[in-house]
Amino acid sequence: MATEPLEKVRQEFLAALAEAGSDPARVEAVRVRFAGRRSGLLRELEDALKTLPREAKPGYGKALNELKKLIEERLAAAQQAAEDAGARRQVLDVTLPGRRPVTGALHPVTLVRREIEEIFLRMGYSVADGPEVEDDWHNFGALNMPPDHPARDSQDTFFLKDGLLLRTHTSPVQVHSMETMPLPIRVIIPGRVYRRDSDLRHSPMFHQVEGLVVDEGITFGHLKATLEAFVHVLFDPRLKVRFRPSFFPFTEPSAEVDITCVLCLGTGCGMCSGSGWIEILGAGMVDPRVLSACKLDPERVSGFAFGCGLDRVALLKYRLPDLRLLFSGDERLLRQFEGVAR
Ligand code: PHE
Repeated sequence: MATEPLEKVRQEFLAALAEAGSDPARVEAVRVRFAGRRSGLLRELEDALKTLPREAKPGYGKALNELKKLIEERLAAAQQAAEDAGARRQVLDVTLPGRRPVTGALHPVTLVRREIEEIFLRMGYSVADGPEVEDDWHNFGALNMPPDHPARDSQDTFFLKDGLLLRTHTSPVQVHSMETMPLPIRVIIPGRVYRRDSDLRHSPMFHQVEGLVVDEGITFGHLKATLEAFVHVLFDPRLKVRFRPSFFPFTEPSAEVDITCVLCLGTGCGMCSGSGWIEILGAGMVDPRVLSACKLDPERVSGFAFGCGLDRVALLKYRLPDLRLLFSGDERLLRQFEGVAR
């Protein structure tokens, strides 16, 4: 019979498929061997049709079509079964290693902000904040900066409509605090500030943290002890703190405050330009005119204030070489802070 080879292939196919089970690679091998386009057995059987005597062709052709259909159907079923089994294996395989979820990390500026907040919370301060869009009075006027003060220049400040502006420092929150809080005032004020500055060392948005204490009998001695304690806890108890006379319109007397270089501990290195000292903040006694502007009596109460660049503190704390790293959003930097939770 001309259809004998068809029957032989049919049996071989069924046996091979049964053996392949639901293993996808073996089902695929069966497909290639029998139904492969170029050299599958079905293809050979098709070619054989041409060589048959004419009277044998119809019977052979019909049987061949039936065989093709059977192979197609059974292969499809086996492929489906293999796929289902694969999916089940995936669901059920409890031995697969777990996948670590991506947890992200806190930004270094957030980390130092929280650490500074904690240090001052332990000293009895509370955290205060204020608007980033300010009026002239809170950002300048109440802080004893007259209309012709250079910082009020549009070169330095982002002015908005209706006399509003983006605050150029966190000091306006001093004013809000004195206007609204009962004495004694002890606040730590972190926040974003804005200046029209953009170069290698300046970003138009940066962070400051401000401290303010107002009560009866507050002295410069309180300021010194507070800043020393702060620096010792945040960086290193071996650091010295140095006050240099300076000027701010809203403090009198005013000082710029240096600490021993955190890298070389005072011997001189690249970071401190060989001086052994690093400037970290501005500070002073709240100017009596500022107290008066906030409806406090300078004869009765006094206070100190300090303000420092949070970004710079983050650079020093984490030994980062470049301010711009903080604002680049570079994941390679941020990943290094994974797990430094606070
Ligand atoms: N506001 C000042 C600045 O931005 C810093 C400062 C705050 C100085 C409080 C003294 C007291 O440079």
